[in-house]
Amino acid sequence: MPTRMSDFAVARSAAREEIRRGLRGNPPAISPKFFYDRVGSDLFEQITRTPEYYLTAAEIGILETNLQEIAAGIGPHAVLAEIAAGSARKARILLGGLEAPAAYAPVDIAEEMLAGQAAAVRRDFPDLRVIPVAADFSADFAFPPFDFDHGRIAVFYAGSSLGNFEPEVASALLARLARAAGPGSRLLLGVDRKKDKATLDRAYNDPGGLNAAFNRNILNNVNRLADGDFDPARWIPHQFYDEEKGRIELWLESAVDQTVRVAGETLRFRAGDRIHTENSYKYDVDEVLALAAPGWLPLHHWSDPTEGFSVFLFAGRDTPPGGGAAATVE
Ligand code: AVJ
Repeated sequence: MPTRMSDFAVARSAAREEIRRGLRGNPPAISPKFFYDRVGSDLFEQITRTPEYYLTAAEIGILETNLQEIAAGIGPHAVLAEIAAGSARKARILLGGLEAPAAYAPVDIAEEMLAGQAAAVRRDFPDLRVIPVAADFSADFAFPPFDFDHGRIAVFYAGSSLGNFEPEVASALLARLARAAGPGSRLLLGVDRKKDKATLDRAYNDPGGLNAAFNRNILNNVNRLADGDFDPARWIPHQFYDEEKGRIELWLESAVDQTVRVAGETLRFRAGDRIHTENSYKYDVDEVLALAAPGWLPLHHWSDPTEGFSVFLFAGRDTPPGGGAAATVE
């Protein structure tokens, strides 16, 4: 008799298989979603507080400076659905400016993450409905039925996290979000802009070595998820901007000839061999509009004073006539 695996065990064996397949690829790769164990999430939070990693301060500044306009563009009684929320720091800013928000619905695969976000928001907004949605937004997904009076669903995708996906995958993902969010919906999307290589290289190579530690820590999580024996000390972290490709790339370079056992495989690496761990695409304004175009009509965008980061507001294309699609924010 086959025994039914718990959801936890199913997720665990899927992760192991994904890690195995990635490491057998050419080049070998580990998905950036495996950065975010406890230590990795904490390291990322610390990265966002370094002066070199300007993205977070720039985005928060944009939200705070333009809160009234953004809130007007989203409208009253909205359900704020945040994708991959992390600490929910930015959602709390938005919720403070929105007119009578109906609910906050963080969407994430990591249930542990969701619980933390929900708790942080409940603390600050005790009267707000908080509805965590445990779902893989990179696959086809639907919001649960919201059985209370509410306005439109406003999808909030902050931090330039969309940049982890290849552009065509990112575009399809945004179109799926438009379909899931339904008539009258809005998308508030934070995107890191293309800029000079020196600034980008500095953001991902802080002098305290947090980005390097974050990159290397993925091996600890892989060891745990896939019974590996990676020695992180034998891997040299690299983070750099590729101007041609318009993306930050993260790699781990083998410092020595070595053999690693992981996910039931025995892998041999020569000194200098590399494992790819992340792409983080940077976009110009017209590129963002093109990516979003299949699902979303642009309403407005706001930037920080250096034009290094922008926050875009879109309306879902499926908005019926009179449903508010023509609303603009000026
Ligand atoms: C969370 C994907 C937006 O790409 O800037 C930080 C992750 N990687 N330092 C980014 C990250 C290396 C971050 N995102």
